[in-house]
Amino acid sequence: MEAMTMEKMAAYCNQYGFIFQGSELYGGLANTWDYGPLGTRLKNNLKDAWRYCFIQLRDQSYEVDADILMNPSVWEASGHLASFTDPLLDCRDCKTRHRADSLIENMDPEAHPDAMTQEEMMDYIKEHEVPCPVCGSRNFTDIRQFNLMFATKRGVTADNAGTIYLRPENAQGEYVNFLNVLRTMRTKLPFSIGQIGKAFRNEITPGNFTFRTIEFEQMEYQTFCRQGEDEELYDYFKKYALEFFRALGLPGERLRYHDHEKLAHYAKAACDIEYLFPFGWGEINGTHNRTDFDLTRHQEYSGKSMEYFDEQTREKYIPYIIESTYGLDRLFLAIMFESLTEEPVGGNDVRLVLKIHPALAPVKAAIFPLIKKRHSQKAREIYLSLKKQMMVSYDETGTIGKRYRRADAVGTPFAVTVDDETLENGTVTLRNRDTMEQEKVAVDALAHYISRNTQLRF
Ligand code: GAP
Repeated sequence: MEAMTMEKMAAYCNQYGFIFQGSELYGGLANTWDYGPLGTRLKNNLKDAWRYCFIQLRDQSYEVDADILMNPSVWEASGHLASFTDPLLDCRDCKTRHRADSLIENMDPEAHPDAMTQEEMMDYIKEHEVPCPVCGSRNFTDIRQFNLMFATKRGVTADNAGTIYLRPENAQGEYVNFLNVLRTMRTKLPFSIGQIGKAFRNEITPGNFTFRTIEFEQMEYQTFCRQGEDEELYDYFKKYALEFFRALGLPGERLRYHDHEKLAHYAKAACDIEYLFPFGWGEINGTHNRTDFDLTRHQEYSGKSMEYFDEQTREKYIPYIIESTYGLDRLFLAIMFESLTEEPVGGNDVRLVLKIHPALAPVKAAIFPLIKKRHSQKAREIYLSLKKQMMVSYDETGTIGKRYRRADAVGTPFAVTVDDETLENGTVTLRNRDTMEQEKVAVDALAHYISRNTQLRF
């Protein structure tokens, strides 16, 4: 089979209603994407899986939904205003702008620009005569640091408008609610606050479909703990991330850890999990030991004490934070690459099948009347009854073979065919998407059977 490329994936997602180009009607807006009906369902299923594994299963674990717009002092305190920058330089000849670290990585994937200072990157670019990827010239400006935050104005008139920012990470919404959650949930350390939500970054080199965009969704999880427990928790969440990925049907072969050499302004240790995309390894998750940096800064900037009183040790201290963060769009994309398969099925025939984990599948079962005239009434009855419990679809057009293929192509784990036997003895033919095996199941047992076999196990 031909290798699955990014272009092929984007075409598939467009054709089957997973992801469309953003503002397509107006010619699009570069690097924005809209999730379609099936993509939205899959994304919601991924969120539910995260909620199950992080919020529901873990003790002392709380979800919040903070506003995207926050008091700008938050970004001063967090260090984003001063340090959330990319090293950029311009090609003097073709006037295109580039990230210095990307230019170096393109030249030599082993070069590790993340461990270089700005001066070292500039020296590298000059010494190795790194060319402009657009025009090939070697005539660059010096590197300048550009802030990645999107700024906007609030207020009715421009004069009294104050600059506010679209959040570049979810985490701060969790930190500024640390005291609120501690108070209202009457909890004790270690405890965790998680959040799913949009983040925005003015990325200068977005691309690779939904991998790097300017608007994206994160699932972030912050565990507040005592200093001394932090390293153990850091290792724990590195492993937990892999277990979560395995549960979602992402096995280890295309995943690897990448320990950071150069750390973000807030971190003592950081490790990504990368997935092997067609363009190479790309980060989908990060575990960060943020120490007491964030809460100390919020104490300093807000003037409110962030100290925790530890009843066991009778001490007061500012908690450490271990962060476990997931890029939802990237996880979505990795799962699509892992699942989308072209499978030979005898002769020269090939079936397109999205072998996605059943818990993530947008539609759990497709209901087909074998013969429209004879079986559609019963089939619709079954469809309407299943619909109350799960996402199902109904399809009565074309041959059964074609209907199976349509369901396979969008990852529907079960196809239910209603035939004469259903009318006579109340059984349907249930066909499994992956094995294509068929079995008879009683209509009464159908909902339970499908629910049981489309659950996430963790
Ligand atoms: N709160 C920590 C934080 O934001 P990050 O490594 O900058 O850390 C976390 O981002 C995750 O968000 C990444 O692992 C990645 O999956 C996702 N992400 C970051 N930038 C992105 C972008 N421009 N487009 C899509 N996803 C992105």
